[in-house]
Amino acid sequence: QKSGYPSFMAKEIHEQAKAISDTLLGRLENNEIVLDEMHIDPSHLRSIDKIIVVACGTAANAGEVVKYAIEHWCRIPVEVELAHEFRYRDPIVHERTLVVAISQSGETMDTLMAVRYAKEQGAKVVAICNTRGATIPRESDAAIYLHVGPEIAVASTKAYLGQIAACYLLGLFLAQVRGNLYGDEIEAIMRDLEEIPGKIQDVLDNSGQVEKLAHDMVETTSVLFLGRHVGFPTALEGALKLKEIAYIHAEGFAAGELKHGPIALVEEGQPVFIVVPSPRGRDSLHAKVVSNIQEVRARGAHTLVIAEEGDTDVEPYADVVIRYPETRTLFAPLLTIIPLQIFACELATAKGLDVDQPRNLAKSVTVE
Ligand code: M6R
Repeated sequence: QKSGYPSFMAKEIHEQAKAISDTLLGRLENNEIVLDEMHIDPSHLRSIDKIIVVACGTAANAGEVVKYAIEHWCRIPVEVELAHEFRYRDPIVHERTLVVAISQSGETMDTLMAVRYAKEQGAKVVAICNTRGATIPRESDAAIYLHVGPEIAVASTKAYLGQIAACYLLGLFLAQVRGNLYGDEIEAIMRDLEEIPGKIQDVLDNSGQVEKLAHDMVETTSVLFLGRHVGFPTALEGALKLKEIAYIHAEGFAAGELKHGPIALVEEGQPVFIVVPSPRGRDSLHAKVVSNIQEVRARGAHTLVIAEEGDTDVEPYADVVIRYPETRTLFAPLLTIIPLQIFACELATAKGLDVDQPRNLAKSVTVE
């Protein structure tokens, strides 16, 4: 069943182009987003004044990524909250709140309890789920399924990309219903999104460099990850992958936080991955991240830079440059996480660990 891969995780990483193309399949008809299981009245969706995403682990990182897109397209405030924190803080939820519950398994107990709480407060709930008939989508008002196929490895990879892509569809659907975006705008965004599977394949086809890096770093005991904007949740997810399967101390930071504490950790030889946004993006985002690379390099960091193809600005400060294809800033997380998944998977494999069944972890956390 592993189709020649050394682990299910490796197989699932390499299935991601097909997985995302399946998530997107048949969702655009006549310039309109079609979501079959979106059984919430459009007039209700127009009345929503806040979105709260509830999820745990990797699913919560997916939520942090899509917050940027949904707020940008729909102009609705989006909060992302760990389901186990949400439940215990008397959150403000009412009929005009839309709760989005992201869960690959659809059985995570904390997320399920958050869904139940939200429903008791009168909120409508949309489940973003990979498992048909699971408890969370059954108890929700609407569901968007990922269609990425079963995920066997405990470490989530293709479901993470599927969750992000499905939430983009939700964001575009809401923007369409609420009149924030019109047919031709939605069509243009979807065309770019539909190019992502081909770009994922490009990243996968060029994974030899990262595989070698992982083997060279097999003795590493600590890795830091930095990103800004959508690169920040990518840094968190890259660190989570490395912790959970390679048992290496790893931390993700918002690059802007560096001088508020984390830079004190940087000493000679400290490996630091930096997720760099497109130089074509807006504002000074790119320049800010390049200056963060300089800052950590000046303190001796070994800089492992994930940068868009053709971005030469990073080269003077990078010990290693890992390239990803050009895309919209909001879609880059579907590409930039892949080298980090491969890095964790290869490093854990090189250490002789059980990549698919890491110690102390279960695929589905059905207890509180
Ligand atoms: O099934 P779920 O998406 O609700 O699971 C949530 C987390 O337990 C899960 O994403 C976990 O963090 C993964 N092992 C991460 O790879």
